Amino acid sequence: MPEHADEYVLKVENLRAAYTSKRGLVHAVNDVSFGIRRGESVGLFGESGAGKSSVALAILGIFEKTAKFGSASGDKENKRLWELREKARKEGKTSDDIGEKLPGVEGHIWYKGEDLLALNEEEFRKIRGNEITYVPQGTMKSLNPYTNIQLQTAESLWAHDDESVLYEREVLRRVLQVLDLVEIGDIDIRKALKPKEFSMGEDQRVLIAMALIMVPEILIADEPTTALDVGVQGRIMDAINLVREKLDLTMLLITNDQGLMAETADRIAVMSAGRIMEFADAETILMYPGHPFTRAFLMSNPSMEMIRRIREKGLILRGIPGSPPDMTNPPSGCPFHPRCQYKRNICVEQVPEYREVEDDHWIFCHRYEELPEF
Ligand SMILES: Nc1ncnc2c1ncn2[C@@H]1O[C@H](COP(=O)(O)OP(=O)(O)OP(=O)(O)O)[C@@H](O)[C@H]1O
Ligand code: SF4
Ligand SMILES: [Mg+2]
Repeated sequence: MPEHADEYVLKVENLRAAYTSKRGLVHAVNDVSFGIRRGESVGLFGESGAGKSSVALAILGIFEKTAKFGSASGDKENKRLWELREKARKEGKTSDDIGEKLPGVEGHIWYKGEDLLALNEEEFRKIRGNEITYVPQGTMKSLNPYTNIQLQTAESLWAHDDESVLYEREVLRRVLQVLDLVEIGDIDIRKALKPKEFSMGEDQRVLIAMALIMVPEILIADEPTTALDVGVQGRIMDAINLVREKLDLTMLLITNDQGLMAETADRIAVMSAGRIMEFADAETILMYPGHPFTRAFLMSNPSMEMIRRIREKGLILRGIPGSPPDMTNPPSGCPFHPRCQYKRNICVEQVPEYREVEDDHWIFCHRYEELPEF
């Protein structure tokens, strides 16, 4: 067990996750470490393709299933790599041990004294959807449009009721409780409504309800408000914050929406190219960011306060030029170097150390101490 482990409900250590694809391995998560303390909300924040959802899938134990299903696993080379992954796992070996990069997940995810990555599927299933639940990115696919929501919400309860101890009445009581938490209509509406009849945002609230019915230790919400109009976003944010308070939830919130981060996250991990670039309390990240990537990312959509401060200090800061790196072939050294206005030779040649520069403030940058103050 790592040091201070009991301070954390969940502790991710040196997590790596790679997909197979027609173009080779996609190194989606590279050496990611962070912890979530009891009752807090940690945000994963960063550009598209940074690896945020992949971290969530790894914590839920469904990364490899998704990777095999979604990519060219029928391809001969990819098939060989997945077989090698199975073999290495059985022998307790990592990519480094066998000298070849492998698809799938490596590292440690500590939860209640156990490494989730060492569990078998049966053991994992008891935790997933039960103690650690998930509101997935992109809602429409997840709900059955033709079954009423009360039934769908109850399904997750029954799915985990291995000993068949739950009476129908108890299931109904708990379904109604969580639907109330997310403020979904009155009982007749709940019974009748099918997702295809929902207004925008109602389906998302039902998904949140479904994720809450087990009274989880940890709720993972992936882009809960993307693609919704501003009014609906507000209502969903309110629903999330309300249940957080009532249930004293521990949360991992994934989004590239600055407003949602500011309202809901206690601490924020900023991701790019499968790495955490910076990790600190929300105020530091959003108001006094230290990492060149965080600064540039925030500048793509700056707050008024930030614009004022930048003018005052005479800083020249732009949004991020160019596009995110190709993760089948990530840049050498610091993966942000092709787009970083502060890069030096060392940034191209050496991978920075992920280090704690102040209490609870982590940075992945060679030049942090030399950067202009923000
Ligand atoms: N099933 C898959 N097969 C192959 N590559 C994938 C698959 N899913 C994601 N990727 C790639 O893995 C990398 C990380 O993707 P991920 O979805 O984790 O990013 P994200 O930060 O969640 O992005 P977004 O903000 O767009 O949701 C990207 O390069 C992406 O193209
Ligand atoms: S390590 Fe170098 S390239 Fe990377 S963010 Fe820091 S200054 Fe920029
Ligand atoms: Mg995602």
